[in-house]
Amino acid sequence: MQNIKLDLSGVESFVEKKEIEAMNWKIERSFNFLKKRDGLGNEFLGWLNLPKDYDRDEFYKIQETAKKIRGNSNILIVIGIGGSYLGAKAAIEFLGDEFKNYCSDFNVFFAGNNLSPNYIKSLLKAIDEKDVSLNVISKSGTTLEPAISFRIFREHLIDKYGIEEARKRIYVTTDKSHGSLKRYSIEQGYETFVIPDDIGGRYSVLTSVGLLPICICGYKIDEIMLGAECGMENYLLNDNNLSKNISCKYAAIRNILFNKNKNIEIIVNYDPELKFFTEWWKQLFGESEGKNHKGIFPASLNFSTDLHSMGQYIQDGSRNIFETVLCVENSKNDIAIKEEENNLDGLNFLNGKTLDFVNKKVFKGTRFAHIDGGVPNLAISLKKLDEFTFGELIYFFEVACAVSAYSLDVNPFDQPGVEMYKKNMLDLLEKF
Ligand code: PA5
Repeated sequence: MQNIKLDLSGVESFVEKKEIEAMNWKIERSFNFLKKRDGLGNEFLGWLNLPKDYDRDEFYKIQETAKKIRGNSNILIVIGIGGSYLGAKAAIEFLGDEFKNYCSDFNVFFAGNNLSPNYIKSLLKAIDEKDVSLNVISKSGTTLEPAISFRIFREHLIDKYGIEEARKRIYVTTDKSHGSLKRYSIEQGYETFVIPDDIGGRYSVLTSVGLLPICICGYKIDEIMLGAECGMENYLLNDNNLSKNISCKYAAIRNILFNKNKNIEIIVNYDPELKFFTEWWKQLFGESEGKNHKGIFPASLNFSTDLHSMGQYIQDGSRNIFETVLCVENSKNDIAIKEEENNLDGLNFLNGKTLDFVNKKVFKGTRFAHIDGGVPNLAISLKKLDEFTFGELIYFFEVACAVSAYSLDVNPFDQPGVEMYKKNMLDLLEKF
């Protein structure tokens, strides 16, 4: 089974056969680093076998905890940043519905990904009358933004429920044994979940980091893991013919384009549910590849919205861009366009057509225009926005990213540049 397809017809006029052949040996070498676990950063390959080898006891604990939180809370606050935030947020939007937080009896909000007092104040106000549980996620336990937010929301819980009840509403996802947050949680008696040592933040969505908040929000995490397992079969284990492995093909094409000075990749969606998926993708590729003064700059755009702000640039600006479109084959919902008697807007020719039909025509029209304008176009189509496809898509991109980064000769699994800002920030704060 494969719920994801890759359409490369929109790059044919930009890439020559000999360039593909020349790239193939590099991709094969990179793929082998992954399979044989002997490439750079190989101490962080815990995500590779995760779909088959995940900790069943932890998984069961996630499901039980989710039931408990749904039983005693109507708000979940997830505190985390970067890899400890984007995967869960991406999944909840991918699987959910844009306005759920406004009209449902259980809502999830995210904190710890900024230091804006306005944001935190208004969140505190929004949850004032509600029953709240907290899931704090930090592998290191020392990241400033989530640590400060944790202080603030912990105080809110203690004021609201008293110290004992607050203790029962705080769930901490952190490293197994040696981090400061782990020590603190043991001291305070908080329930803890594990981020395995061999899985880095941006590769951690299929651990408790992503699965706990996703499960609390009511989505089927067993289906996500099945989808990821299918991804593992398709993109890692089925290696007889690498030219059929679309994850490797995607990695190959982006590297060929990069070598032709297409050094910006825009990932584009036509469905707002995918907005945060593309944020997750940006972190995955940006942090994995952007080092040693190399790497494709990953950017994301939301269409049609951004066609009316960035469309001009894509069509006609600097020609260093290529475009990857995420398209959804089967929309969850559809709406038929109806005829109107006076036809003042002249749209009666669309009578009986649906919004999904029109959306797909916008995609096709835009695609051809961008190709004509010199922007190579890759299309990744997803069968539908369900748990299974989400799991498969995560694995698809994780393999593609590792292979692509190895092809650039960089370590896909470290992030030395992120540490620089953290160090400077702490130095500056300690001055006062
Ligand atoms: O991918 C990464 O490693 C980073 O984005 C981290 O997830 C992010 O910096 C948060 O770190 P931590 O989970 O230690 O708070």
